[in-house]
Amino acid sequence: MAKRIEVPEAKGPATALLFNDWYPAMRSEGLSNRQMVKQTIMGVPLVLGRRADGKIFAMRDACPHRGIPLSCGWFDGKDVTCKYHGWSFEPVSGQCTEIPSLTQHDSLDCTKVFATAFPCEERDGYAWVYFPEPGSGRVMDRAGLPAVPEVPKFGNRYRSAHLTAELPCNVDHGIIGLMDPAHGPFVHQSWWWRSRKSIHEKEKHFEPIPEGFRMTAHAPSGNSAPYKLLGVYGEPVTTTIDFVLPNRRYETIQCGDKWFASLTTVTPTTANACRIDVAAAWNVFYRVPLVLPVAKFFGQRFVEQDQVTMIEQAEGLRYDPTLMLIDDADKPAKWYFALKQARLEAGKTGLAARHPLEGPVTLRWRS
Ligand code: FES
Ligand SMILES: [Fe+2]
Repeated sequence: MAKRIEVPEAKGPATALLFNDWYPAMRSEGLSNRQMVKQTIMGVPLVLGRRADGKIFAMRDACPHRGIPLSCGWFDGKDVTCKYHGWSFEPVSGQCTEIPSLTQHDSLDCTKVFATAFPCEERDGYAWVYFPEPGSGRVMDRAGLPAVPEVPKFGNRYRSAHLTAELPCNVDHGIIGLMDPAHGPFVHQSWWWRSRKSIHEKEKHFEPIPEGFRMTAHAPSGNSAPYKLLGVYGEPVTTTIDFVLPNRRYETIQCGDKWFASLTTVTPTTANACRIDVAAAWNVFYRVPLVLPVAKFFGQRFVEQDQVTMIEQAEGLRYDPTLMLIDDADKPAKWYFALKQARLEAGKTGLAARHPLEGPVTLRWRS
């Protein structure tokens, strides 16, 4: 496996973050054994863990009493206890269960005290955390939240894999880097993927979907290795790529009853740094033993090529240069910025967000 890539500290400009949504905080396999794990997501210091009954939790890593990180204290599989004055909290709800200093003469009801606990659910091996708008208080109606995102699956038997890469730039650059079609032949040139010489004109069809856009199902380009591999089944291959706010790219490839699906997210760790996570599931080559390591190897190489390029890009972005987006290759990036802006404005005005796409659009570029 390739060497680990050194990711420098993010020094570039910050960007606005989209709250009231789910973000993958970390791989959930890392939560076990009464351990508390620290993780900063959306600029919020979190402490995550797994109760003895299996349920995972994510709390703000700060005691509501005097602010010491709760991760400095103890977790017995049931309650989190603060190191400073021993207040205990049920970590899924954040509700205080004990304040040791209280006497019979005190009237304070400790169960009225809450540490900040975020809705937290396990999907596809990730701990997904819901971040409400800062200052909006505790999420009372957890059942009323939008569905937790997950990799689409088209059957019960599948294999899955995960990849991750930290990026020292803000989430906008992570996302537009992900949807940018023109960097492929330059950043991802290699014998098994495609080369600069294979650049040719492409025509792709897009349509609006709620809070995003879809590149509609199409016969895939003939020069990319994964599609060639899928082609051995001899049936037409259809691909759909959806981008949905705040940060999700769903790709589904189907060929008869064979399928490959992935969900790639770019999650803000802070206002000027982010992390790419790819979760994939497939039933293609289900019985072939070496496919998982081979797929992981190629996937890892691919993500690392993006990561290395964006680390270099971050060096340039430090000085906040003026940038440009061109038609048609950067049109999806323009749509992303318009969708994000519309959502931020809708949050302020309470009016419905305006969608930048009024109907189907065809884009052309060479890549
Ligand atoms: S600071 Fe946590 S109990 Fe006092
Ligand atoms: Fe890329």
